Amino acid sequence: MPFPPERPRSLAVPRLAPSAVVEPGAVVDVGAVVGAFCLVARGAVVGPGCRIQSHTSVWAGVTLEADVFVGPSVVFTNVRHPRARYPRAPEWDITHVEREVTLGANATLVAPVRIGHHAVVGAGAVVTRDVPAHAVVAGNPARVIGWACPCGETCATGTTPPKDFRCDACSRP
Ligand SMILES: CC(C)(COP(=O)(O)OP(=O)(O)OC[C@H]1O[C@@H](n2cnc3c(N)ncnc32)[C@H](O)[C@@H]1OP(=O)(O)O)[C@@H](O)C(=O)NCCC(=O)NCCS
Ligand SMILES: [Zn+2]
Repeated sequence: MPFPPERPRSLAVPRLAPSAVVEPGAVVDVGAVVGAFCLVARGAVVGPGCRIQSHTSVWAGVTLEADVFVGPSVVFTNVRHPRARYPRAPEWDITHVEREVTLGANATLVAPVRIGHHAVVGAGAVVTRDVPAHAVVAGNPARVIGWACPCGETCATGTTPPKDFRCDACSRP
């Protein structure tokens, strides 16, 4: 079966599920999709073309660059050492997710953390450290298990990045 074509860039206003809440002061850019039972809080940034599936809260201090895929029930955090009696606001710990990252279902990102462009975070992973660009990480704590093509397929395994990103799935050189 041929690899599916790239989705054209959309400049349409963001599409929000009826049950999604976007607070005043949140940024949700063009072409973004925010699914059922999601919250995008004041101070959060959702870049163009991002797709947030469902049951995810994007808090202040979280920035998603362009075309980030957020699987269902992904958990973002913004305080590394929370205490009910000692509020840290507005000194949030920052989560920065670079362009075209995939966050698998139920993944948890423990801020402060940066996810490099085109990285893939496996379902259920607990990310406690920065993730290099194109890395595929999985587990708790998340560890590098491979390397992802821009198309999202894993094109190399192991902890060392490959010299070239040859991909059989999309036939990218
Ligand atoms: C992380 C992921 C991309 C890896 O896919 P892959 O490159 O095809 O890797 P494989 O399935 O060959 O697995 C490689 C190894 O990692 C393990 N592994 C794969 N995904 C894992 C995960 N999420 N957590 C822990 N271990 C995982 C496998 O068990 C396997 O281990 P083994 O070699 O000891 O058997 C994929 O498993 C995943 O989690 N995708 C996210 C799916 C998702 O959440 N979609 C949401 C929207 S539909
Ligand atoms: Zn590919």
